[in-house]
Amino acid sequence: MEKIRIVGGRPLEGTVRISGAKNASLPEVCAALLTGQPVVLHNVPEVRDIRTMGHVLSDFGADVQFRVGGTVEITAAELTSVEATYDLVKTMRASVLVLGPLVARARQARVSLPGGCAIGARPINLHLQALEKLGASIRMASGYVEAQADRLRGAEVAFDTVTVTGTENVMMAASLADGETIIRNAAQEPEVSDLADLLVKMGARIQGAGGSTIRIEGVSSLHGAEHRVIPDRIETGTFVAACAIAGGDIEVRNCHPAHLRAVIDKLRETGIRIEEGPDNLRVRAPRTMRSSDVTTVPYPGFPTDMQAQYMALMTQAAGTSTITETIFENRYMHVAELQRMGADIRIDGRTAIVSGHTPLSGAQLMATDLRASACLLLAALAARGETVVDRVYHLDRGYYRIDEKLRGLGADIERIDQGGGRRATDAVPAVEA
Ligand code: EPU
Repeated sequence: MEKIRIVGGRPLEGTVRISGAKNASLPEVCAALLTGQPVVLHNVPEVRDIRTMGHVLSDFGADVQFRVGGTVEITAAELTSVEATYDLVKTMRASVLVLGPLVARARQARVSLPGGCAIGARPINLHLQALEKLGASIRMASGYVEAQADRLRGAEVAFDTVTVTGTENVMMAASLADGETIIRNAAQEPEVSDLADLLVKMGARIQGAGGSTIRIEGVSSLHGAEHRVIPDRIETGTFVAACAIAGGDIEVRNCHPAHLRAVIDKLRETGIRIEEGPDNLRVRAPRTMRSSDVTTVPYPGFPTDMQAQYMALMTQAAGTSTITETIFENRYMHVAELQRMGADIRIDGRTAIVSGHTPLSGAQLMATDLRASACLLLAALAARGETVVDRVYHLDRGYYRIDEKLRGLGADIERIDQGGGRRATDAVPAVEA
């Protein structure tokens, strides 16, 4: 199993290019199930989760071609199976995104229930209730969701809780339903809007994506389309945070600053200097960061997917900060590892109280989930001495070659295999979380 070794203390300099958004690419790959014609996606990050989704679609009989440079071509001419097995779903919860498209196109789906994961229970009850509203009959059998619908019909779906993939599932299903669907309390994340953009290119009639009410007028069929995925806003934020914690001056290219409003505003409050261009950011680390409290909320607020990275920063800021996680109930797995490096963090319910300016020292660390792993890399950049992060396959699920990108900025970082030797970055292990 691969590990990443980092020696802290080197400021970052130079330019980094951001990849396409994982969380936009995942539903967009699934949207290809809605048509028999080819869907071509560009700027898809070549990360493990996307490969896994490719396997899920291949199992249904779709032809999935990964081209060099981040282009994926999917043709689901005929669906030969509608079953997503436990073996695949357990490795990636986002597999639930096949449910809406399968029910809409094939009128049936059998998808394994994902179960809990490292950051919380993450039920899918809201996805299921919404599909029932659209006329699907749903039953549970042997750990699988079995959904069936002779014809989906438009309905009003009001989500109790904002759910990103729930909104995406309904948007995809409703695109092929009879009549109008209205989603209230919809997720407003840029990934939802990007999926809507793709669906509209495929012939769907969707209005209001990006706001809290989305209207979808169902059509009888969708056709092929070509689409460029938006840049990954969380990868962007992670590199801004990396520069801030390591020190230095970097340019982040191929990003979309408007999607990071809350993150940029918060990081500026801590003293980080950020200049915005149309598709780039210049980031200059301050001599000393200031503490600032944050609460995670759905978009356009501060994202839960940046909470762990922000906590690493706050361990180095002057003063005490509180970080409150409201989206997931168990997203503090990185805290124990940060404490082992010397951080002073106390958890009180959903709030972490971080005393800043604590010197961190390198340690042997264990990655537990994607964003927690990124947090540990950031802490290691600021730590004295050597850090070795184990289970880096978590990182490879969602960050494209983050170690190479950091090395390109001057960080002392390398990927090593179990025996201690260096390994190529693309040798991702077959096992996932
Ligand atoms: N929820 C329910 N029932 C449901 C669905 C959600 O109770 O049926 C709850 C969840 O347990 C959670 C809250 O609603 O407490 C919000 O969860 P949401 O459904 O929005 O999360 P998700 O769609 O499963 C996506 C991203 C996550 C990101 C969250 C929140 C994808 C593929 N995943 O997950 O990304 O953290 O939205 O923004 O889009 C990551 O990239 O590291 C990651 C975990």
